[in-house]
Amino acid sequence: MCGIVGYVGPRSALDVVIGGLRRLEYRGYDSGGVALVHDGTIAWAKKQGKLANLDKELAERPLPESHTGVGHTRWATHGPPSDRNAHPHLDAANRIAIVHNGIIENFADLRAGLEARGYEMVSDTDSETVAHLIAEQLDADDIELTEAVRRVVQQLRGAFTLVITDAQQPGVVVGARRSSPLVAGRGDGENFLASDVAAFIDYTREAIELGQDQIVTITCDDIVVIDFDGAAGDVNDFHVDWDASAAEKGGYDWFMLKEIDEQPRAVADTLLGRHSRDGALQLDEMRLSDDELREIDKIIIVACGTASYAGLVAKYAIEHWTRIPCEVELASEFRYRDPILGRSTLVVAISQSGETMDTLMAIRHARQQRARVLAICNTNGSTIPRESDAVIYTHAGPEVAVASTKGFLSQLVACYLLGLYLAQARGTKYGDEIASMMAELEAIPAGIQRLLDDAGPVRELARELSGERSVLFLGRHTGYPVALEGALKLKELAYLHAEGFAAGELKHGPIALIEDGLPVFVIVPPRGRDQLHEKVVSNIQEIRARGARTIVLVEDGDDVVTEYADTVIRLPRAPTLLQPLLATVPLQIFAAELADTLGCDVDQPRNLAKSVTVE
Ligand code: F6R
Repeated sequence: MCGIVGYVGPRSALDVVIGGLRRLEYRGYDSGGVALVHDGTIAWAKKQGKLANLDKELAERPLPESHTGVGHTRWATHGPPSDRNAHPHLDAANRIAIVHNGIIENFADLRAGLEARGYEMVSDTDSETVAHLIAEQLDADDIELTEAVRRVVQQLRGAFTLVITDAQQPGVVVGARRSSPLVAGRGDGENFLASDVAAFIDYTREAIELGQDQIVTITCDDIVVIDFDGAAGDVNDFHVDWDASAAEKGGYDWFMLKEIDEQPRAVADTLLGRHSRDGALQLDEMRLSDDELREIDKIIIVACGTASYAGLVAKYAIEHWTRIPCEVELASEFRYRDPILGRSTLVVAISQSGETMDTLMAIRHARQQRARVLAICNTNGSTIPRESDAVIYTHAGPEVAVASTKGFLSQLVACYLLGLYLAQARGTKYGDEIASMMAELEAIPAGIQRLLDDAGPVRELARELSGERSVLFLGRHTGYPVALEGALKLKELAYLHAEGFAAGELKHGPIALIEDGLPVFVIVPPRGRDQLHEKVVSNIQEIRARGARTIVLVEDGDDVVTEYADTVIRLPRAPTLLQPLLATVPLQIFAAELADTLGCDVDQPRNLAKSVTVE
């Protein structure tokens, strides 16, 4: 949510900053802007809308050469999207330029104070106040930018990442972070600041994780980190294990299509290296001992959106394999209901970005209540894993499209690994049972690949249904979260009314929605010893009898439902618990194709941003 870049070095700062913003545009696209230090002043450009508008502005009104710059791509919070509210924000003398991600909660008081002292605001944003406050410090005392920033951040409440330049200190960019993401990139004779390593991956893969309440000062040759009290700050260096090509479209029209196609790899990579030599499951970043895992008597999974659906699937697997009660809760609801937590509660936070504010606040609350926290995350160097007791990284590579696809599948894999690891530590499953489930998981990438290779009819169906006003999705057991995910993908990508329901709930109300021709996707569980399969078959018959157009996702060889299906989508065989890894894929393809047919921006749907760093 808002992308920020800062650069100091021998290259054109404009090129580096704009290139970085392009990589971060998924974080927000309400406006873009850049500020460069040049000849004792700040040269800047900013424009409402996507970066293409800023590019046009820069072509018409080029900025001078500079080697120190900052940039911003915005997801609006305070003040509507407009040129005026676009970042960077400057002080009246054009000396300071700041870019900001987050919300400064006490900005109204700060703004009133500044206005009373004669400062004039030119935007509606909370961010502009910071530019004036820093300039005020620099005007009052003979201090450096870093010290001015340090004094000002102590006055701020809320969550923020700030990146700042001072026209009178070329070759210096200062960043500060509290509860919003910021990483530094360590180059050779150049250094970088950004919300996400993707912004500087073209230049360096060596990065520094910045901690809570830290200030970082970059020059060409140095990166210095202090805390808000001025003491030297602890930092973690890390190496980014993917390169620039992973963050590019590679011939696809949309990042999402590439990311959907990358799913066999994402699943395989997330499974890779999880066995020790003796065949036992090993999770390198687990950091919780088997004794601690044996003490757990309750698991609460907290997450948002798609990640919360991964949590719903995890509940079925974890309870089945470990017999530990497992709840799943939307992170935004969790801490406000005063949950009952203790040392024997394991809170599992699932987050692709590792920065989602609702999830971050939930784990902070859980840790205050002494619960142990384990993060499932795709982003090295992000806040949620850093603030957790343990982490399972998913290895999906960078997910750039705003709506999650490979992130979701790799979260599912990490959840299964967690369930099996707990079962191993607590002895609720024998080694050979765990090995056999791992073998089933290892067969999944080939199954996904087959679904991708055979996706033609799903795409055709999407084009055929592009005139529909509403689509429903039904599932039971692990098929229920898949139904929710199928509906969410369609809503967010194609702006179409879509609902996911537990198939058994239909008769308690939603069946009233069924009318002639209404498309309804149904995820059919594999035939097994329980009655799940036949219950779903009955549900299909119920809706068909009322005129629904039934689109049935069913495993190979299951012909029981075909006579009630208008369209059949075949799934490779897998155990019920693992079926979401397969059943989700055609629904992603369907949503992306339908959105594309309607002319929607598949990668950057309206009103959304990846990495929601406000509550
Ligand atoms: C939907 C989607 C969102 C995210 C949610 C959590 O396609 O991407 O619902 O799943 O915002 O994001 P993370 O996983 O980054 O915490």
